[in-house]
Amino acid sequence: MQILRLIVHYGSIAALAATSLGHADKPTMKAVVIHEYGGPEVLKYEDVPQPEPKQDQLRIHVIAAGVNPVDGMIRSGMFDKEGRRAFPVILGGDISGVVEKVGSNITKFKFGDPVFAYVSLDNSGGYAQYAVVTEREAAPKPKSLTYVEAAAVPIVALTAWQALIDTAKLKAGQTVLIHGGSGGVGSFAIQIAKAHGAKVIATASTANQELLKQLGADVAIDYTKQNFENVAKDVDVVLDSIGKDTLARSYGVVKKGGIIVSLVARPDPAELEKHGIRGEALSVDPNSDELSEIGKLIDEKKINVIVSQTFPLSEARKAQEQVATGHTRGKIVLKVADEPK
Ligand SMILES: NC(=O)c1ccc[n+]([C@@H]2O[C@H](COP(=O)([O-])OP(=O)(O)OC[C@H]3O[C@@H](n4cnc5c(N)ncnc54)[C@H](OP(=O)(O)O)[C@@H]3O)[C@@H](O)[C@H]2O)c1
Repeated sequence: MQILRLIVHYGSIAALAATSLGHADKPTMKAVVIHEYGGPEVLKYEDVPQPEPKQDQLRIHVIAAGVNPVDGMIRSGMFDKEGRRAFPVILGGDISGVVEKVGSNITKFKFGDPVFAYVSLDNSGGYAQYAVVTEREAAPKPKSLTYVEAAAVPIVALTAWQALIDTAKLKAGQTVLIHGGSGGVGSFAIQIAKAHGAKVIATASTANQELLKQLGADVAIDYTKQNFENVAKDVDVVLDSIGKDTLARSYGVVKKGGIIVSLVARPDPAELEKHGIRGEALSVDPNSDELSEIGKLIDEKKINVIVSQTFPLSEARKAQEQVATGHTRGKIVLKVADEPK
């Protein structure tokens, strides 16, 4: 319920997104679709019509698609309680690939451009051989990354950026506590914070302590052995991707005037007032300029991308089941086509 309230906008983008795909006379493609809401078993690998780009869209030949926790939430029907969506629906919000067709209003991209994108699902989905996106959702693929690595970036990196830079206005010399530092959002958040000159305290389980250090955390906390509030004190910013008890125990570690940005819950106004701090619930938005900026930091080797597992597109179910454990290390990515030479 907490997550539901929380990611209202994030969810509604995805929810409104789902479109009907039933046109039998169009060229087809392979995609992972759902015909009903439910568990991972409702994911079907099928032939569906290729999406046609509108004037303000580009069609991308998808090489790889990132898998996010929200994909499973959409699959479950969490964001469509009133059952407004038309099936089938293609899931997936992160892609990398090559521009294959452009609408007449497209100016920033051309045929053959390597790109990565946050597909907001208004017209398309990422678990497919082709996807359509607007210019606002796409950016040039970082040259130093494979397509598999690039597909691991958009949603989680934009989330970390919008939480730390846009919302918390993190400054050099400030201290940030990043919960879930070894996951998709957390692994980017640590590196984005370090690239902006902040001091980073990050939490993860025992197996991921070394990873936190490799990502640049100044202080790594094993949440299975230590209460983070015994180590992190007077921080300027908390990035919460866990919620519940973790969020409840975070209010007291923020210095007066500081801020908690949560991705999964709305911070409690009474607690914020009691501690003299601010709180925001973030909902990530597509943003081409920010994605380009993140891409530059990647090419400058200031941000590394961690892909812990890949699956073929046809095995999206296994990938979602793995992500649903809540213990993904870095990212899990679907390989849709061979990397272009
Ligand atoms: N609101 C938005 O716009 C938005 C955007 C993106 C993501 N999200 C949400 O943010 C959450 C995180 O997303 P993600 O993609 O980063 O997930 P993820 O890749 O699955 O990472 C989760 C991480 O949390 C760590 N973890 C689990 N329990 C923990 C605890 N009690 N304390 C500290 N760390 C813990 C895990 O590390 P260990 O394996 O070491 O435990 C894992 O690395 C999800 O709920 C997602 O839906 C929201």
